[in-house]
Amino acid sequence: MSNHSGIVKLMGICMNIPDLYLVTELVVGGSLEDLLHVEKRRLSGTEILSISMQISDAMQFLHMANIVHRDLKPSNCLIDHHGVVKLCDFGLARVLGREMSRNSESRRAGTPVYLAPEALAGAPTTNKVDIYSFAIICWEMHTGEQAWFALDYTHMATIVLRDHGRPIIPPDMSREWKELIGVCWAQDPGDRPSFTAIIVSLTEMGAPKPIRHGKNTPFKNVELV
Ligand SMILES: Nc1ncnc2c1ncn2[C@@H]1O[C@H](COP(=O)(O)OP(=O)(O)OP(=O)(O)O)[C@@H](O)[C@H]1O
Ligand SMILES: [Mg+2]
Repeated sequence: MSNHSGIVKLMGICMNIPDLYLVTELVVGGSLEDLLHVEKRRLSGTEILSISMQISDAMQFLHMANIVHRDLKPSNCLIDHHGVVKLCDFGLARVLGREMSRNSESRRAGTPVYLAPEALAGAPTTNKVDIYSFAIICWEMHTGEQAWFALDYTHMATIVLRDHGRPIIPPDMSREWKELIGVCWAQDPGDRPSFTAIIVSLTEMGAPKPIRHGKNTPFKNVELV
């Protein structure tokens, strides 16, 4: 698993019961969260395609290894100075049950906005929860906004679960992206595509092949946090 360049390498584990520490490769740069909400960078279409493709490539790898990420969100998508995306914090089901605060700092520390409806409902989940999270991330990259920012947990969960509501798609988004995001955040997990199918769609949309070891980066003069 650690051989995929889109996944942070696990270097060691330290158990000091009841605490568990994971020592991982350090990704010098920042996260997609930093890029979007600290630097407040508006991403170009090429950058969005590149990041989406890299996330999908690494996620396809995890899913083929029967690993469900469960906490796919911008702060867990690290981006190095070459524009290489590396996923971290996979396999941790620790967001479930957490309350979302109205306070933006608390919200940033752990948020259920990326959780699929079936996970919010506490129902059995599959790897399709990661596809839903991916859709919210793609929406966030396009809008530069945080989904459901002004809502508390109960309000958000009601909209997503009962009303099948989703963040508003900007009218200027391309038809391909509207269709891809729309199917990825489908209410029924069975209607959501696999990352393999998403990679096919992204390729048709002109996404570059995933960057390996900093080659072929579309990023110019990247100076991430
Ligand atoms: N291997 C790494 N290299 C560089 N930065 C990392 C690495 N792992 C995590 N980070 C960054 O460290 C910060 C803290 O990560 P952490 O996982 O503790 O919190 P989080 O992802 O913001 O929220 P949560 O507590 O819900 O996981 C984040 O900004 C994250 O992007
Ligand atoms: Mg994290």
